[in-house]
Amino acid sequence: MTDAAQRISELRNELDAHNYRYYVLDEPSVPDAEYDRLFRELQALEAEHPELVTPDSPTQRVGAKPASSLAEVKHLQPMLSLGNVFSTEELIAFDQKCQGLLSAGEAISLDLLGDAQIEYCCELKLDGLAISLFYEKGLLVRAVTRGDGSVGEDISHGIRTIKTVPLRLMGQGWPEVLEVRGEVFMPISVFDELVAEAVAKGEKPFANPRNAASGTMRQLDPSIIHSRKISFCTYGVGYVSDEAALPVRQSERLKLLHTWGLPAWWVASKKFKSVHVAAGYSGCLDFYRKVESMRDSLPFEIDGVVYKVDEIHQQSVLGSRAREPRWAVAHKFPAREEVTTLRDVEFQVGRTGAVTPVARLKPVKVAGVMVSNATLHNMDEVERLGIRKGDTVVIRRAGDVIPQVMSVVLDQRPSDATPVQIPKECPVCGSAVERTQLVKRSKGKESLSDGSVYRCVGRLSCQAQLKQAIIHFVSRRAMDIEGLGDKTIEQLVDEKLIGSPADLYKLQYEQIIGLEGFAEVSSNKLLKAIEDSKRPTLARFIYALGIPDVGEETAKVLARSLASLARVRTALPEVLTYLPDIGLEVAHEIHSFFEDDHNEQVIDALLGECGLQLQEEGELSAEFTAIATLGGMLDKLNIPSVGPGAAQKLAERFGSLDGVLGGDWLDMRQTLPEKQAKAVREFFDSAENARRARAIEQQLREFGMHWESEKKVAEGLPLAGQTWVLTGTLEVMSRDVAKGKLESLGAKVAGSVSAKTHCVVAGPGAGSKLAKAGELGVKVLDEAQFIDQLKAYGIDA
Ligand code: IVH
Repeated sequence: MTDAAQRISELRNELDAHNYRYYVLDEPSVPDAEYDRLFRELQALEAEHPELVTPDSPTQRVGAKPASSLAEVKHLQPMLSLGNVFSTEELIAFDQKCQGLLSAGEAISLDLLGDAQIEYCCELKLDGLAISLFYEKGLLVRAVTRGDGSVGEDISHGIRTIKTVPLRLMGQGWPEVLEVRGEVFMPISVFDELVAEAVAKGEKPFANPRNAASGTMRQLDPSIIHSRKISFCTYGVGYVSDEAALPVRQSERLKLLHTWGLPAWWVASKKFKSVHVAAGYSGCLDFYRKVESMRDSLPFEIDGVVYKVDEIHQQSVLGSRAREPRWAVAHKFPAREEVTTLRDVEFQVGRTGAVTPVARLKPVKVAGVMVSNATLHNMDEVERLGIRKGDTVVIRRAGDVIPQVMSVVLDQRPSDATPVQIPKECPVCGSAVERTQLVKRSKGKESLSDGSVYRCVGRLSCQAQLKQAIIHFVSRRAMDIEGLGDKTIEQLVDEKLIGSPADLYKLQYEQIIGLEGFAEVSSNKLLKAIEDSKRPTLARFIYALGIPDVGEETAKVLARSLASLARVRTALPEVLTYLPDIGLEVAHEIHSFFEDDHNEQVIDALLGECGLQLQEEGELSAEFTAIATLGGMLDKLNIPSVGPGAAQKLAERFGSLDGVLGGDWLDMRQTLPEKQAKAVREFFDSAENARRARAIEQQLREFGMHWESEKKVAEGLPLAGQTWVLTGTLEVMSRDVAKGKLESLGAKVAGSVSAKTHCVVAGPGAGSKLAKAGELGVKVLDEAQFIDQLKAYGIDA
């Protein structure tokens, strides 16, 4: 066999295997880009050696056999695929070929050849799966997948559940029989939810929205299809009983289909305004660039754009080849997925000590950028992927997101591939690496489970953590010390000039001027910036400390509610959970951060010898006093079978914790049903539970809380006595934060709407609660109006 024949045979086998995986098993083994490359290599070789082309070559047929569980339907007209171009040169060649054929067929004039002779209808290339919809007398009678292009599968039952597919055409003038072609796809937001659900259930998620859409459409149960919110977009017609009923241009056809209720997304989109008709290849290129720049902001995946000769007459002169039309071409975007080799897995130590695996890859170009590292998130992810060093992996780079390892190509695993193991010691400082524990409390008991994060226990004695901690400490939204770049901080740490954030304030001019890139002016500037940072607000300071899981929002909540560093430093985890958006997990992180000796010393040094003066400290907020009620506290103890309602009853009856602890059985029985009363008794029979409850109560009192005053505090607030309901998705703030803000104004936040509800705040996706509010005539605010209302009360969103 010649070299060419040998390679052709290899390529055919490989492509057949991929086709089988893709179409029949629905488990793609390589990214599209890789498939395209092999396919084009085969096409090129066959073009050079036409004598080697055989009818069974993958280039000679349209696809592979469909799976057989759904009824097979033969297409009246084959469902073609599209040829691809990847560069301007290839696009120009396509345009010139069209011009040549059209002038030979006298469809355009020969002496006018040049750019802008042909008008192209420019469309998006949606990344989903092609389907055909049959309308007879305007009614949807059948929906079929593309299948192998000549025979597809009947998916009418599933398609009917897709809201964007009209069951009856709107308007008038449609031909008696009309076959509409288009793409079903899964919006990215729906895909992300589906992945999160699968991961939470420990199932293997779909690799991308297209696989998810295809996996969904193959479901035999229509309710699953319905629940997955698949969408549809049309891009043309197939069989029509009366061609004359349709316009003579593709662009006009799309507009007409749109008026019949068949969505051609970009026809009506605000971003596109209408179908784009471009003059010649240069017009096409303008469209390509425009779409490429908005690719990441579209709500669905596209893998390129499609140019179609706009005049239908010209299309018929150009005709089709076996697999694809001559009058259309897909201009593909650089692929977002590529295959490469995983050379090694290294472990990085972050600011909070988290030790995370990073993939070191054989460099590969993905979507136009060289990629040699990718994130592996954590060890759970490593396990889920089943990845080994030496594996061939699929990586993906989308937008600004850090490249990710998507999957392993198992068929290509070398025999010497080695498993990935978390190091026992920190690669930077040698301290122990320990798995984090998650604190959960249920039925009044705290329990621990393994977290997915491993941490170096070295804290600030670990140079990696120290560097990151200081980078964070000086950052703009923290202490805002300008002129201290990452490189400088690394140098300061490496040369042991600083060992903690407090040391920054002891830096001398002589030390700074000795650093790389510093001269007299810049050294003085830096000293001034350090000096100027000495009066941070409490919130900034808390954020700057870099407590694990405490971002800016949480730092603000802590500062606003507790209003003094002393209170934040000493707050018990349970007390912290009174604050909006702080769960037990974060509460424990905060508490143990302040218990750490080293952290204590650094904070004392900052506030003492370094001379920092915190701003905006003051009285415990009304927000906190309003939330920290006796009922709330009893509820937070998580006494088995005692919910918020029962906790409230106990508080009202006994008035204090002592009252509850010493309350006699009869009183207790009159207040609560026997089962709950018993549970309360049993709970406080445990000395540990009683001690913990007293400690919490005592702390709340130290913070200036008086149970008696709780009602009065609320009464003085602007929304006292009002009940509000939050529903739908809030985009600016989380529901918990919104709840906290309302409560700080004295309102109660309830879970259901009734005639007593004062106001409903409804975000996108609001359903029955919003409808109920409408029925009852309850006032409804959207999030923007709600934020305005908060502002009117002096509370920022
Ligand atoms: S036209 C005769 N237009 O891409 C031309 N296809 O790679 C047939 N696709 O099977 C296709 N967006 O699933 C066309 N605006 C668009 C498209 C589009 C996505 C898909 C379709 C087709 C595949 C070809």
